[in-house]
Amino acid sequence: MRRARKNCEVIAITNQKGGVGKTTTTSNLGIGLARKGKKVLLLDADAQGSLTASLGYPEPDRLEVTLANVLGKIIHDEEIEPVEGILHHKEGVDLMPGNIELSGLEVSLVNVMSRERVLGEYIQLVKDSYDYILIDCMPSLGMMTINALACADRVLIPVQAAYLPVKGLQQLIKAIGKVKRQINPKLEIEGILLTMVDSRTNYAKDISTMLQEAYGSKVKIFSNSIPISVRAAEISAEGVSIYEHDPKGKVAMTYFSLTEEVLVSGFPEENSAGTEQSFAAGRGEALADGNES
Ligand SMILES: Nc1ncnc2c1ncn2[C@@H]1O[C@H](COP(=O)(O)OP(=O)(O)O)[C@@H](O)[C@H]1O
Ligand SMILES: [Mg+2]
Repeated sequence: MRRARKNCEVIAITNQKGGVGKTTTTSNLGIGLARKGKKVLLLDADAQGSLTASLGYPEPDRLEVTLANVLGKIIHDEEIEPVEGILHHKEGVDLMPGNIELSGLEVSLVNVMSRERVLGEYIQLVKDSYDYILIDCMPSLGMMTINALACADRVLIPVQAAYLPVKGLQQLIKAIGKVKRQINPKLEIEGILLTMVDSRTNYAKDISTMLQEAYGSKVKIFSNSIPISVRAAEISAEGVSIYEHDPKGKVAMTYFSLTEEVLVSGFPEENSAGTEQSFAAGRGEALADGNES
């Protein structure tokens, strides 16, 4: 029996740039939330399957049932069991694995009706069993990422502190705004998370200041930023979280504080949609029909 939950919060971890800490953040924020007693599902929506690999399945392409299969069934109107394909990690999170088949699926989505809502349909099926669903997105703004944004309550944007991809961030924030207006009025940006910060350098401080100046008035920048550490880079091969691998290290402590920051920010107010809502209602149809302009 599934336990009905009042609210399940869906958070997309998104940045179209690769190597910025999306996957590391998804697993450590997710396991952080599980350590706080929350029921958590992690979705690997990246064809590279890095989240799946980093949680103990080093060969994602060999898995029988993955996100691509269940989404394929949804597209073809086939029945699926809510537990189908879901794996259980020993640190208390569930995982819907992803692999290379997602790239084929993404291509085939182009011809599907309501193609940006397929992932959302899947989430509707499983969300009653979870407090949080975290989606580890592809490093692109393709259909899978749009699907994630179309069903998320919040977006968390990891940004690598090594250089400031202002342009990329602008493009991402614009895409999020567009999805919010046209498809998903409840979507909010949870915040920008600086990752791989080397606090000994002035450069890291400059980037933090620049981010604050460029976006601080519009978007929250998390007060926690993730330090750079080889210990963090090691976990993907270990199949465990940073809390297991290096519990006393800085990265574990920061991810835990980040977890608390995410927990307190809670649900956006139900009535926050306001004017966006009516605008979005008018435009949603157009996009669903494929008349994206
Ligand atoms: N805080 C960190 N310190 C050092 N290396 C990190 C840290 N976070 C992630 N990494 C490493 O950086 C690489 C990219 O991180 P990853 O989470 O896979 O990014 P993305 O999912 O955005 O591609 C990986 O090899 C990962 O192990
Ligand atoms: Mg990744």
